[in-house]
Amino acid sequence: MYSTEPEDKKQFRQEFDRFYGRFAKLYDWTVKIFPVWRNWISQAIPHIVGPKVLEVSFGTGYLLTQYANNFETCGIDYNWELTCIAKRNLEANHVQAAIQQADIEHLPYRAETFNTVVNTMAFSGCPNGRRAMAEIYRVLQGNGRFVLIDINYPENRNWVGMKLARFWASTGDIIRDMGQLFSQAKFHYVEKEVGGFGTVHLYVATKIG
Ligand SMILES: C[S@@+](CC[C@H](N)C(=O)[O-])C[C@H]1O[C@@H](n2cnc3c(N)ncnc32)[C@H](O)[C@@H]1O
Repeated sequence: MYSTEPEDKKQFRQEFDRFYGRFAKLYDWTVKIFPVWRNWISQAIPHIVGPKVLEVSFGTGYLLTQYANNFETCGIDYNWELTCIAKRNLEANHVQAAIQQADIEHLPYRAETFNTVVNTMAFSGCPNGRRAMAEIYRVLQGNGRFVLIDINYPENRNWVGMKLARFWASTGDIIRDMGQLFSQAKFHYVEKEVGGFGTVHLYVATKIG
């Protein structure tokens, strides 16, 4: 039932990046106009602990505008167009965050820097889940948190949710056994379904070891 990762990870990353580049403005307006997406990703906010927070794959920066001023916040995103839009959105909302373009698989920070890493609706677009998880683990301090919101199958396998999850998978999203990934990376985690007929999952994972 779970997706397999693409063999050509570089090509997969570039295709997704081209897509985000082409539709960056539309993506910005979609997040601004439709409350449902904002409601889903905002479920991460109560789980963020500081002082040092990193948001990975911030997109147009909506979530950053909601919490970044409360912490020492950094952010990275792979896509150049989205990073430029996010910078403008932060400025317009008088929000301070040190954001830059970078790859989740090569985070430009020292080990054990952050208390929390946040990632919303993006992990299923990472072609190498183990590598991305290992990088997030590396930059977290001991007992630090990885707060993740992403698509997965609903636990009760309801018809609408299953159709929705399969639709996401058909668009290229990689739906994974997240429990296995968290355990391999030495995270303890709790999981909750927060929307989308059980397809939008919140994971709060704590770094152990
Ligand atoms: C569906 S969007 C989610 C954006 C935002 N987090 C939100 O919830 O609206 C996926 C994001 O992942 C980013 N992304 C894709 N590949 C990435 C990579 N290798 N490293 C960092 N970010 C990446 C994209 O540029 C895009 O901003």
